[in-house]
Amino acid sequence: MSRPLLLRALAGETLPRPPVWMMRQAGRYMPEYMAIRQGLGFLELCADADLCAEVTLQPLRRFRFDAGIIFSDILLPLASMGLDLSFGKGHGPVFANPLRDRSDIDALRDFDPVRDLPAPLRALQILKAATEVPILGFAGAPFTLACYAIEGGGSKDWIRTKQLMWREPAAFQALLDRLADAVGDHMQAQVEAGAVGVQLFDTWAGTLSAEDLRRWALPAAQRAFSRVKGAPTIYYTRDSGPFLPWLRDSGAQVIGLDWRVDIGHARSVLGPEVPVQGNMDPIALFADEAELRRRTEAIIRAAGPAGHVFNLGHGITPETPMEAVETVVEAVRAFRWSTEPTSAAGA
Ligand code: CP3
Repeated sequence: MSRPLLLRALAGETLPRPPVWMMRQAGRYMPEYMAIRQGLGFLELCADADLCAEVTLQPLRRFRFDAGIIFSDILLPLASMGLDLSFGKGHGPVFANPLRDRSDIDALRDFDPVRDLPAPLRALQILKAATEVPILGFAGAPFTLACYAIEGGGSKDWIRTKQLMWREPAAFQALLDRLADAVGDHMQAQVEAGAVGVQLFDTWAGTLSAEDLRRWALPAAQRAFSRVKGAPTIYYTRDSGPFLPWLRDSGAQVIGLDWRVDIGHARSVLGPEVPVQGNMDPIALFADEAELRRRTEAIIRAAGPAGHVFNLGHGITPETPMEAVETVVEAVRAFRWSTEPTSAAGA
């Protein structure tokens, strides 16, 4: 079999069309996912390797995505490190014992992915035998994990996080270092279990000033990525637009973009040799079919033929109509940069 389009795009190659996958492509917008969740909590699902592999495959059966992403969650390593995680009905994640000071941080347990979080690793091994579609691994970036760990859940303005960051910088740095080593090892373990590449999600880095991003979030991401060998790395931030000049300091080979930034502009700032992933507004999936096709093609053309992985700028929302996902996947797969009839796009 020829080298998957995903890996070629992540390596910056010029291709007849970009590969396509979508963040959160497995989940609640699919009835087969809801069927598995009947009577089964999200965390229980994440702990079952066979079901994680099955849920990862669900969108690959229904749509012709060029990549899968292992079904798991960024918060699980924090639970292994001693934080009491739950997902209630109708609200996001909650930690009952958030980190409030240096002693809480020092009391965190070390994280060994093979010992403490075997399900996604086992699921990756199962998937390697079950599908030829390349499967990505992932982890939460140190800064974003610190946000959840300190606040005890989601937040509008992350006051406690920034307070600790500025008032107790040594403690905050110690936390970022612990998390960077944990997620770095977690990413590397996923690569060893069969992930073809890894993505670090820094969802809340976009709440930082440029100064704080460079001081805290980017060096921590770089420390995590330094532990990954032999596989492409992707760094995703939400609200990435203002930070384009510095995102490569994350140490990642590929930059994941949210939808607010023009992808052509992003490439001119990053440098044309830096591969990018993105960046359709996930809410565009609620537009009509003609508009969705127009937007899909506009993103491909703005990104150019080299080193682009088509994706959304953030995860699919649960209300998304499946027809819209189908439309985008098929529109990307039908696109050709060259009109040469012999071009082998793997379509
Ligand atoms: O993309 C994929 O399909 C892979 C699986 C995946 C999940 N979470 C499954 C999930 C990935 C890559 C994530 C990453 C993740 N998790 C992030 C970073 C990306 C982002 O969305 O910004 C964050 C911040 C989290 C933390 C998290 N997990 C939140 C805030 C929530 C609640 C959100 C919600 O919509 O209720 C989760 C739960 C979660 N993680 C679900 C899924 C499918 C929903 C669980 C369910 O009810 O079935």
